[in-house]
Amino acid sequence: MTANKNELKITKPDDWHLHIRDTEIMKAVLPATYRWASRAIIMPNLEPPILTGANARSYASRIKESIEAGVEFEPLLTLYLTQDTLADEVLASYNQGLIKAVKLYPAGATTNSHNGVTDIQKVYPVLAAMSDAAIPLLIHGEVTDPQIDIFDREAVFIEQILEPLRRELPDLRIVMEHVTTKEATSYVLNESENLGATITPHHLVVNRNVMLSGGINPHYYCLPILKRESHRLALIDAATKGDKRFFLGTDSAPHLDGAKIDVCGCAGVFNAPFAMEILAQLFDNLGALDNLEGFVSLHGADFYKLPRNKEKLTLFKSDIMLEMPKTLHTKQGNITLFDPLMPVYWQIMK
Ligand code: DOR
Ligand code: ZN
Repeated sequence: MTANKNELKITKPDDWHLHIRDTEIMKAVLPATYRWASRAIIMPNLEPPILTGANARSYASRIKESIEAGVEFEPLLTLYLTQDTLADEVLASYNQGLIKAVKLYPAGATTNSHNGVTDIQKVYPVLAAMSDAAIPLLIHGEVTDPQIDIFDREAVFIEQILEPLRRELPDLRIVMEHVTTKEATSYVLNESENLGATITPHHLVVNRNVMLSGGINPHYYCLPILKRESHRLALIDAATKGDKRFFLGTDSAPHLDGAKIDVCGCAGVFNAPFAMEILAQLFDNLGALDNLEGFVSLHGADFYKLPRNKEKLTLFKSDIMLEMPKTLHTKQGNITLFDPLMPVYWQIMK
């Protein structure tokens, strides 16, 4: 990394948690990521989901066909874990280089998770095989019990599901995806280095007030749901202090406006377009620019045991505030961009 007050040259970042959907929406949203990222872990919660190595192979080729000629961008595919997933399918897909990880959605936890896991015990044999083969398990860490308050679902998941799983399979490499609470960050900090966590830009820069106070705002509705300010501060601490276990996963999750603004609006924030500028501004505001590169470019690659990127990305701080468009127009309709509700001066050098 080289830095002065107004310019920062870092290893090119990666996004360790990304939804790009498929077909026309995918074509429309992908450039927002490959503008600043070299690689991204692509979530498998399509409808139908990515269940096999063959599904992953054909999704990867659709993604690659959607990337403009000359752009270097590597999608890193994942398999969607169900109670019918076979260990052999996971091992073969991983060994053939078709996937980099397996995603566990508790059934009903979020968008397209109904094929997910209802009883974690049932997938222990697959997880044991993954542990032996050092294949990372990516977890959406929320319980789905309707008796549990939505704001407590992550903390309860850690207690009821994650902790017993860690005790049973201590060598399994796990990423707690999009952590949102101080319970999660302190859990990760107290565990060994084979437990990592991604953090999203939106959970770092806004709290639940932006969604619920002064009128309900569905564009801030995501899962796990935004939490109170004290949790946001715990996430900031985790992301900006240089700890290797925390890395960027935007969880950029585009939905058409019609699906967001509905009686049962979808969860998801589309933050890919300005994720990097927003994070640079946040880290600058906190006097933590020295730790930006670790969070966005180094820790994730190290956790996945992948080479760090050779390319660089240069950011500069302009005198003029960045104007972010509000909407991405696609052939299927409009998608509203994440508004960080703070002035951003950092920009990506072309
Ligand atoms: O807000 C979310 N949106 N959280 C998720 O876990 C899934 C995602 C989506 O796919 O829309
Ligand atoms: Zn996600």
